[in-house]
Amino acid sequence: MKNNFWEKGQKHCAVITGASSGIGMEMARALNKIGCFVVLSGRNIKALEKLREELGAESCAVIPADLPVVKNCIDFYAAAKKYEPDILINNAGFGIYGEFTETSLTNELELIDVNIKAMHILFKLFLKDFVKKDRGYILNVSSSAGFMPGPLMTTYYSSKSYVIRQTVGVFTELKAKRSNVNVSVLCPGPVSTEFNRRAGITGFFKGITAKQCAVYTLSRMYRKELIIVPTIKMKALITAGKLAPERLASFGAYVLQKGKKRIE
Ligand SMILES: NC(=O)c1ccc[n+]([C@@H]2O[C@H](COP(=O)([O-])OP(=O)(O)OC[C@H]3O[C@@H](n4cnc5c(N)ncnc54)[C@H](OP(=O)(O)O)[C@@H]3O)[C@@H](O)[C@H]2O)c1
Repeated sequence: MKNNFWEKGQKHCAVITGASSGIGMEMARALNKIGCFVVLSGRNIKALEKLREELGAESCAVIPADLPVVKNCIDFYAAAKKYEPDILINNAGFGIYGEFTETSLTNELELIDVNIKAMHILFKLFLKDFVKKDRGYILNVSSSAGFMPGPLMTTYYSSKSYVIRQTVGVFTELKAKRSNVNVSVLCPGPVSTEFNRRAGITGFFKGITAKQCAVYTLSRMYRKELIIVPTIKMKALITAGKLAPERLASFGAYVLQKGKKRIE
């Protein structure tokens, strides 16, 4: 990816949650490659330190955080703020597979705390700083799942719907006051990462690579695109889902989810 997006001489710093694997890790690599200082977060300290070593200690920092706890989000924000970021990649998240009557309530509440609450807290706190400076980019990571009902993964789909609605609403508020801060939401289809394994399933479609997803997304983010969907196939599926009656879209999603296999 060429660095033709930024003002000359301007130093940039990106805070990335969920940087210990998958999309977040590739976002960190891509941003580091174009000269951006990166603040890496996640729970897996070993993976974060390994990435820091790879990228060069002088161009990144590690701030571990377990995000379902509100205090941890606020402490993380306070620690990351010291680096004067102008980019937030609000990416940490996970999924849970299974029928709603069978999945664990505790795990679902944790999912809501990470995918919705932590996303919300960090979005708000960093955005307020960016608005004061009148510059910066925020990328909230949702999913194409956020556009449709998600039988067999209902809590995950619903959580990602929140991310889309929150981002689009705030985007309009910023435009209305002619702010130079931009917010975008990433809505990918399947991406080959640890996501499925963590959700206890094997994928149905072969996903794009996390690197493809990250590079495409960052180039769109700099063009200030609001909703970023990396592949034509997913764009078509989302459009079809929007046109179809709700029950039909939900049944289609059920068939897709049912095709996934549980990891024993
Ligand atoms: N892969 C896909 O097919 C796909 C499709 C659409 C959207 N997405 C979204 O993309 C984002 C990144 O997922 P991925 O595909 O890259 O999966 P991944 O490889 O499993 O990465 C998930 C990241 O989230 C972090 N995370 C999870 N729980 C956390 C917690 N309690 N506190 C702090 N960090 C936490 C993980 O870090 P630690 O384990 O170190 O805490 C990890 O770095 C997620 O929001 C996911 O919903 C993925």
